[in-house]
Amino acid sequence: MEINGKTRTCGLIGNPVEHTLSPMIHNTLAGILGQNMVYVPFLVEHGQVAEAVTGAAALHLLGLNVTVPYKSEVIASLQEIDDLAKNIGAVNTLVQTKGGYKGYNTDMEGLYRAMTGEGIRIEGEQIILLGAGGAARAVAYLCAVKGAKRVYMLNRTWDKAKAVALEVNRAVGRDVIMPMLLTEYGKIPEGKYLAIQGTSVGLAPDEEGVVIADEAFYDKIHTGFDLIYSPWETRFMKMTKAHGGRAYNGLKMLLYQGIIAYELWNDVCVSEMEAQKVYEKLKEHFNSGD
Ligand code: ATR
Repeated sequence: MEINGKTRTCGLIGNPVEHTLSPMIHNTLAGILGQNMVYVPFLVEHGQVAEAVTGAAALHLLGLNVTVPYKSEVIASLQEIDDLAKNIGAVNTLVQTKGGYKGYNTDMEGLYRAMTGEGIRIEGEQIILLGAGGAARAVAYLCAVKGAKRVYMLNRTWDKAKAVALEVNRAVGRDVIMPMLLTEYGKIPEGKYLAIQGTSVGLAPDEEGVVIADEAFYDKIHTGFDLIYSPWETRFMKMTKAHGGRAYNGLKMLLYQGIIAYELWNDVCVSEMEAQKVYEKLKEHFNSGD
């Protein structure tokens, strides 16, 4: 691709940013769609998020993604915020407006697209959600909004699960999230569940880590979705499969949150065939062990 006077720039702000796969997603998409756009990572030091956003607006950057640890902090620097992002309390995508940026959360819509693409339903489902941190909190919100019947939210720290449940239940006007301690998994009623792994346990290099190690727990899972994609197959996924369930990693969620951001910035619709091409490229990256 030739960079010239008409090239539009997007990027990622976070700290750290050097391991991000987002440049691969966006620059591959720009290539496939023949758009004159580049995407680069920008390291932002702690305490400098507001300066970064003001500077980005001054440079007319088309859009930004926001990653750890700035997804909440960035909200104070926005001109506008989308309702879903506001409710979740986390923004991962900024879209240029006149004189500033509007904030969106494409992580959740990305997870939803990834799940529906695999034929996984949320509506009417009984769900086990592991974790109550930033990622799990957003998943709880998604499940509630998309009509889950009940979500058992298990977390090591009870207070956090309780706080998320209160907040989400209040926002949707029904008692859908049930907070529980991780150790209380035995109290989940008999049945088969969709289980979403939203803790950081099992993330490389802690590849042998798993948040619940008891084999019996995995008999309750018909589908396991881990938000982690490195390693490619987490121990949670392996245990789910060993007990007859289907298991997915979080790479498609990453892919689709990027695609939705790309669509917002460029006012285009990315087809499933194009999405698949980007997915193959991401997969190659993992296979090559980079
Ligand atoms: P993220 O933004 O990735 O969600 P986070 O907000 O730090 O990161 O949340 C991490 C999640 O992993 C939390 O649910 C955390 O449990 P606590 O709320 O009790 O801290 C969970 N987690 C991290 N390490 C854990 C461990 N060793 N055992 C159980 N849960 C763990």
